[in-house]
Amino acid sequence: MKVALIGGTGSFGMALAVRLHEAGYAVVIGSRDAERAQTAAQELGVTGATNEDAARDADVVVLTTKADGAVETARSLRDAIGRTPVLSVAAELSFSKEGVFPTSESTSIAQRIQDVIDGPVIAGLHSLAAANLGGDVAPDEDTLVCGDDADAKAIILELAGKVTSGRAIDAGPLASARALEGMTAVIVNVNKRYKAHAGLRVTGVQ
Ligand SMILES: NC(=O)c1ccc[n+]([C@@H]2O[C@H](COP(=O)([O-])OP(=O)(O)OC[C@H]3O[C@@H](n4cnc5c(N)ncnc54)[C@H](OP(=O)(O)O)[C@@H]3O)[C@@H](O)[C@H]2O)c1
Repeated sequence: MKVALIGGTGSFGMALAVRLHEAGYAVVIGSRDAERAQTAAQELGVTGATNEDAARDADVVVLTTKADGAVETARSLRDAIGRTPVLSVAAELSFSKEGVFPTSESTSIAQRIQDVIDGPVIAGLHSLAAANLGGDVAPDEDTLVCGDDADAKAIILELAGKVTSGRAIDAGPLASARALEGMTAVIVNVNKRYKAHAGLRVTGVQ
């Protein structure tokens, strides 16, 4: 299965590429700049392409651009994405001396992406820090995934289950994305307070 990482040249995209490549997925690192994509891809032994070419040729599209570019990037790739399932990992954060806050937007980034493309949007992996995800081994933590399209969610749950050594857990409809995106701010505050790379572990689920 071919997975396009749109904006995959950043820390999260590169970490996800490591785990997906290891799990046997065909990974394409996308970038706004073809040369930057090639350089990043060569580092990992995968393929590089412009975001548009990567999206057009993929079975799954993961939007790993900087969070505040995710909706506009999705809009610009609408034709290239078509009906391909899309995973949104983005969470908008604002930083102040009191701590880190989630966005004040009333809808999640994932829902705003769904408004501008035709393919089904799934949200997930927000709690996986790039530093944990891209380590020598898959991180020992759970990850939450949500979405409205059952077939697309099954594909993403399988993918998510292969990039952690914990579990990929179905967190319900796409409306849950607002809470999952907000959880990122909670985790960053925990990391700052304890100088940690915290992750999630859900108890009571077999
Ligand atoms: N970092 C983490 O630990 C972590 C954890 C969970 C989820 N996430 C999510 O993962 C995503 C990527 O995080 P990151 O830390 O890797 O981000 P990042 O390094 O800041 O950006 C990733 C890539 O996005 C592209 N980009 C930058 N500005 C853009 C714009 N205005 N429009 C389109 N593309 C743009 C750049 O690629 P090109 O210049 O090559 O196009 C850049 O390499 C974010 O949505 C974040 O919320 C991150």
